[in-house]
Amino acid sequence: MPDRVTIALAPGDGIGPEIMNACLEIFRQAGVSDFVDFEEVEMGHSVFAAGETRGITDEAVETIERYGVLYKGPMGTPIGGGGKSINVTLRKTFGTFANLRHFQSLPGVDTVFSRAGVPVDMYIVRENIEDTYGGVEHRLTSDVVECKRLITAPGCDQVHEFAFQAAKRLGLKKVYCGHKANIMKMTDGMFLDRFRVIGDDYPDIEKDDVIIDALCMNLVLRPQTYEMIVLPNLQGDIVSDLAAGLVGGLGFAPSANIGDHISIFEAVHGTAPDIAGKGIGNPTSLLLSGLMMLRHIGLLKRAAVIENALLATLENKVHTGDFGDPETPPVGTDDFAKAVIDHLGMTPSEREAKPVPMHDALTFIPPVRPHVNELIQTFTQKRSDVVGCDIYIATTSPPLELAQKLERLAVGTPFKLTMISNRGTQVWPSGSVYTEVVDYFRVRFELEDKHLIGQIGQGPTIHILRRIAEKFEIAEFQALKQFDGEPGFSLAQGQ
Ligand code: NAI
Repeated sequence: MPDRVTIALAPGDGIGPEIMNACLEIFRQAGVSDFVDFEEVEMGHSVFAAGETRGITDEAVETIERYGVLYKGPMGTPIGGGGKSINVTLRKTFGTFANLRHFQSLPGVDTVFSRAGVPVDMYIVRENIEDTYGGVEHRLTSDVVECKRLITAPGCDQVHEFAFQAAKRLGLKKVYCGHKANIMKMTDGMFLDRFRVIGDDYPDIEKDDVIIDALCMNLVLRPQTYEMIVLPNLQGDIVSDLAAGLVGGLGFAPSANIGDHISIFEAVHGTAPDIAGKGIGNPTSLLLSGLMMLRHIGLLKRAAVIENALLATLENKVHTGDFGDPETPPVGTDDFAKAVIDHLGMTPSEREAKPVPMHDALTFIPPVRPHVNELIQTFTQKRSDVVGCDIYIATTSPPLELAQKLERLAVGTPFKLTMISNRGTQVWPSGSVYTEVVDYFRVRFELEDKHLIGQIGQGPTIHILRRIAEKFEIAEFQALKQFDGEPGFSLAQGQ
């Protein structure tokens, strides 16, 4: 094992540098520098301002790849223009597939639950790369835009494996999978399916699933029900902020973005431009993220010592202006950090202290650079057979008229028109005249003779697509396939 680790450091924009300095000073005084060097990298506002739309320099990418750990402050996303969120770019570029967040009631942080004497202590694991965050969006017709929601089996496996491993390490008894598989039977269905499959390898951990809307209600009513919830990306994003609200807001919610090679530790909140430069930002969230980072590299003792000092500081009513007892005057960022430093070695009295291990031992080994992008796969042997195609047409024709024209175009092909839907609801061969339609129809062709399944490739679907393209404006095309005999497509509502 190494005797020192270097961590890439990006202080961030807005209040970022102020709260980062506070956290680094606490680390220094707690002896973290006996094991860790920080190397600053350039990203965020200054890089966007220099015209680099990624918001990060090539040197910064190389440094992060070399060291495998990035500690970052919040960074602003330019509104409009070409600049994308640097935070999302970093998570996706470096394959940090799991976002782990810890939500715990903290002393001195007033919430509905703290007043009711209900302690909250739970983890959310959010899938961090896929889902609508692929950002694959298109305008399909004058009136219709689309965002492709991709969920992959290996992507699900990675995040579920991480969640169960983390639950085991943290000594948790039960993991819930949150989803909407009752509606999105294939995408959320796969997320839930893979949760169950991966969960089978962890017999000592109870598993359950919960539909996302019920989960939101339960979290507000009985947050103590949950120890860990694993969620797809967008649902996880929303539920994480809900959970942050349960423990006092974003200023108390740390976050770790974990990948197989690279991990990023950051606060959940943004750059707080309204208070930037005033020296009053709350460093708690960034500090708690830093503690997740110290534990990630093996500094369990120092992390516990700092966490106990933080808890004792909060118990003693030291607080920044965004929270705390209104009877006690707030302190600035640096004085808050100084108070935590003064409490190093102390433990909280009103709640259980974090057990402090005897020694620290670095366990983190920097990544070995792969030669090519790694292919991740779950199902390598599935047989797929073409059974038809969905063709999406930009038209304002009424469904019956459209069906008559399309049936004529299918004559002489192996396909027959089986369904027309609009916004996912069947409007032909049956349906209601009260279903409002837009200028984007899905028309489904399926093989007339089922004996042809397995006999034809995708050629005939392209042939019928060409025929239809001569008469209609095509908006999209999707081959329909069976995988090991199971249909790989959903039915329309009402079909
Ligand atoms: P924000 O989290 O920066 O601020 C919301 C409110 O919370 C403000 O009133 C702010 O003063 C307060 N606040 C946030 N963190 C605080 C702290 N540590 N101490 C005391 N008060 C705090 O959210 P907003 O205003 O929507 O976003 C500002 C910028 O931050 C945007 O450019 C956004 O894109 C970016 N952002 C970056 C994130 C990241 O780097 N991970 C996450 C969220 C937003």
